[in-house]
Amino acid sequence: MAKWSVNSWRNFAAKHLPEYPDAEKLKSTEEMLRTYPPLVFAGEARELKRNLAKVAEGKAFLLQGGDCAESFEDFNADYIRDTFKVLLQMSVTLTAAGNCPVVKVGRMAGQFAKPRSAPKEEIDGVELDSYKGDIINDMEFTTDSRVPDPERMIRAYMQSASTLNLLRAFAKGGFSDLNKVHQWNMGFVDDSLQGQKYREIANKISDTLAFMDAIGISSKNTRRLRAVDFYTSHEALLLPYEECLTRTDSTSGEVYDTSAHMVWIGDRTRQPDGAHVEFCRGIKNPIGIKCGPTLDPNELKKLIDILNPENEAGKITLICRFGAEKVNELLPKLIKPFIKTDYNLVWSCDPMHGNTTKSNSGFKTRPFERVLHEVESFFDIHHDMGTYPGGVHLEMTGQNVTECIGGAQAIKDEDLSARYHTHCDPRLNASQAIELAFLISDKLRESQEPSNSKITIAK
Ligand code: PEP
Ligand code: CO
Repeated sequence: MAKWSVNSWRNFAAKHLPEYPDAEKLKSTEEMLRTYPPLVFAGEARELKRNLAKVAEGKAFLLQGGDCAESFEDFNADYIRDTFKVLLQMSVTLTAAGNCPVVKVGRMAGQFAKPRSAPKEEIDGVELDSYKGDIINDMEFTTDSRVPDPERMIRAYMQSASTLNLLRAFAKGGFSDLNKVHQWNMGFVDDSLQGQKYREIANKISDTLAFMDAIGISSKNTRRLRAVDFYTSHEALLLPYEECLTRTDSTSGEVYDTSAHMVWIGDRTRQPDGAHVEFCRGIKNPIGIKCGPTLDPNELKKLIDILNPENEAGKITLICRFGAEKVNELLPKLIKPFIKTDYNLVWSCDPMHGNTTKSNSGFKTRPFERVLHEVESFFDIHHDMGTYPGGVHLEMTGQNVTECIGGAQAIKDEDLSARYHTHCDPRLNASQAIELAFLISDKLRESQEPSNSKITIAK
């Protein structure tokens, strides 16, 4: 393989990259970005990799979630807080269910660039370039708005920096106190129609907290009860941006993409001989690979060998997104070649991207039951094959939006228009996301039970 450098991806075919009409402006923006401070520290990315290695071993669970596309418009403290809060609530439920640590990774603080199925969008006979995410162009349907503007990278960087700053404060500054998160969950249980089903797990947490309190362990004297580790991630799609934030770590001499702790390669840009794979093979961050219906198992092996030639634990997360109808046929085919091998892999389930449909009223939506169904099948398949279902990857928000049909709130097609705010794909709202966490907690419990200890974990 030819030598890797931070810009060697420029010699490879790149899909889904914008063509900037103003080359000079692009160059000066890139020069400026190169001088900006890193957003994350290499040591944090290494720590995440160690945590993901525990997931690969079957000793932890990965919860990754957030917006499909962050936007410049919906940028405020409440919005960041609410998504973070829901992720904490889900994480506590999953920890209690699986009796294992939950590794928390946001699709936040940098998830701005979107690959699109169609390069053009047509409304009332007018055809324009598609919206590609706020880091590239504007959603407004006018010719000017859709022109890619390099300066948007600067704004996305600034927004990521301040989002990350607030997330760090929430994670360590008292907001994430376990007692508080539990109280929020109790509120959800009390309000919910399925309250009885969820109460069991909520009570287990109440009892544990009361016991710890009785023996003198509380958030006042124990940091782990009032602080959490939280990591950021996004799709490494816009390679000029990622390149400019890629730096050599002075403490280890290793190269990291400092735009996020973890990045992933999208289902549309995972060609083994493409620019996105070339870029990602040289960085030491944990890498996700989106695995969709067109991914051939041999190609996946090839990809993993390119991206993780030393089989480093925690480096590769396979984010499988087949859809509820195809998962039973396609996921086992992908898992099979890795059974009883020593590949270190995290298997995660994205039940969103294979379950997008158009509602009768014309909205892009995702039926909650199909999302749940894909997650359940994911757990069952791993159980049958003796591998470990390591995590979930969700598009969700802390807001009370109406974008996905179903769930306990029974959102219907005619409700979608009420609060349909997404800049790209439909997201689970706060209540649907927490409900999903309670529903998958049963599955997680099964996969963690000692009676399953005969299961060999795919390595
Ligand atoms: C996404 O995660 O927003 C996305 C575009 O997913 P995929 O690459 O799996 O289609
Ligand atoms: Co999406």
